[in-house]
Amino acid sequence: MNVSFRLNGEDVTATNVSPTTTLLDWLRETRGLTGTKEGCNEGDCGACSVIVTDDTGVLPLNACILFLPQLRGKAIRTVEGISAPDGTLHPVQQAMIDHHGSQCGFCTPGFITTMAANHLNGRTDHDTALAGNLCRCTGYAPIIRAAKAAENTPVPDHMHDMPLLLAENIPGEPQAGAEPPNHPTTLDGFADWYAANPDTTLVAGATDVGLWVTKLMRDLGETAFLSHVEGLRGVTVTDDTITIGAMTTLSDLHPVMAEHHPAFAELIRRYGSAQVRNAATIGGNVANGSPIGDGPPALIALDATLHLRRGPQTRSLPISEFFIDYGKQDRAKGEFLTHITLPRGPDYLRCYKLSKRFDQDISAVCGALWIEVADGTVQTARLAFGGMAATPKRGFKAEAALSQKPWTEESVHAAMAALAQDFTPLSDMRASAAYRMEAAQNMLLRAWTEDQGAPTSVLEIRA
Ligand SMILES: Cc1cc2nc3c(=O)[nH]c(=O)nc-3n(C[C@H](O)[C@H](O)[C@H](O)COP(=O)(O)OP(=O)(O)OC[C@H]3O[C@@H](n4cnc5c(N)ncnc54)[C@H](O)[C@@H]3O)c2cc1C
Ligand code: FES
Ligand code: FES
Repeated sequence: MNVSFRLNGEDVTATNVSPTTTLLDWLRETRGLTGTKEGCNEGDCGACSVIVTDDTGVLPLNACILFLPQLRGKAIRTVEGISAPDGTLHPVQQAMIDHHGSQCGFCTPGFITTMAANHLNGRTDHDTALAGNLCRCTGYAPIIRAAKAAENTPVPDHMHDMPLLLAENIPGEPQAGAEPPNHPTTLDGFADWYAANPDTTLVAGATDVGLWVTKLMRDLGETAFLSHVEGLRGVTVTDDTITIGAMTTLSDLHPVMAEHHPAFAELIRRYGSAQVRNAATIGGNVANGSPIGDGPPALIALDATLHLRRGPQTRSLPISEFFIDYGKQDRAKGEFLTHITLPRGPDYLRCYKLSKRFDQDISAVCGALWIEVADGTVQTARLAFGGMAATPKRGFKAEAALSQKPWTEESVHAAMAALAQDFTPLSDMRASAAYRMEAAQNMLLRAWTEDQGAPTSVLEIRA
């Protein structure tokens, strides 16, 4: 297939490429743009960071798990396009020199592109925004100093990229309406085509699927890229419902959750890295059925409803019924997730993510607890956990131990004991079964302790 986009200010067409060619491989092997580095090849290190501009904004993304069709009509800037055409360094490049932000230099191109994207977006939360870029030798202090030093410098003109128009007649590609079936743009057209081609691999943000190719060397067979399907992306808030399109990225979901369910927003902040959150969709996080995904426990605790479609038929089900067993979800062949709805109302959600590293790590245990207390009595308890079973799952016995009981330490201890009847976790490289159980039980105690006004997070401790 052919894919056209803008690269460092120039319109280009990648011709006769396999749909699962990664941007990283294409840049390095076809264009000779070897400034973009391959470190982990699985989205973990940021050495391959590039800047992608589309109709939603300017995003640092990991080129190693981006397939070329996801970039159709967008604008890409690699490290080779960061300094001005006359060779003048970008302010973040100059600041990295001034503050000694580089030693071996392997990570440096990735840092420069992420920092330049953040500079363009006016982001100053450098610890969070650079958590997806790993440096093994310089240490972060000089790099963060450089990012701060560049904060108020003007954005060079050449950095303002315009994506190619998405709608019609992108040079080198078929006319609108004749797009290849694996690159659908209309929801109805895609629904019919997928129902007739149900063995197709759907690709959303490719933060899971990308690794099937780069790490498992899998041939995906027929693929369909959802990135350009209209009506699947974005969040709508009404008086009684929050509707989240399946293709909404974690980055786009974050500000909405910060307003309505801040604990979910804080969980999202620790989900992968900025580059991962800019690509990963909430629909992919649910549809992959992972027992250790962070979105599903929160969505279960929030009493979310999933909406699926197969051809013209649509149906809805509570998210907790979607996860049947390990690797098995209630999704028919040719059926896909269109959106997720949450009831809107007062917020009683808490989310606790336990992972070996604070940033950029998969949860060992993720607890999402909806505990609604009125007049000292628990009215509703929905206690959902990831990492405790073959699927994300509610602890019904623990919920029963709390419901309609006084919100006291005694009730909490009863619920903690009941949790041991709800779950039989496994031991693996992330945590032992005993540790997982104790951690999950302590999450209940933590929720109660928080309500007593005690600090429960290291982030709340100040010297
Ligand atoms: C470095 C790194 C860090 C990560 N950190 C975290 C983390 O902290 N927490 C976490 O929960 N996850 C994490 N992940 C996993 C991953 O980011 C998430 O599972 C992500 O949300 C998947 O979404 P996606 O859009 O990338 O899905 P994709 O990879 O495109 O697809 C995932 C699966 O869902 C299917 N699919 C996608 N959209 C639909 C749809 N609309 N309907 C039906 N099926 C669909 C695909 O066919 C595929 O089977 C991490 C991944 C990486 C690479
Ligand atoms: S090479 Fe490590 S994130 Fe891409
Ligand atoms: S300078 Fe060597 S890894 Fe960062």
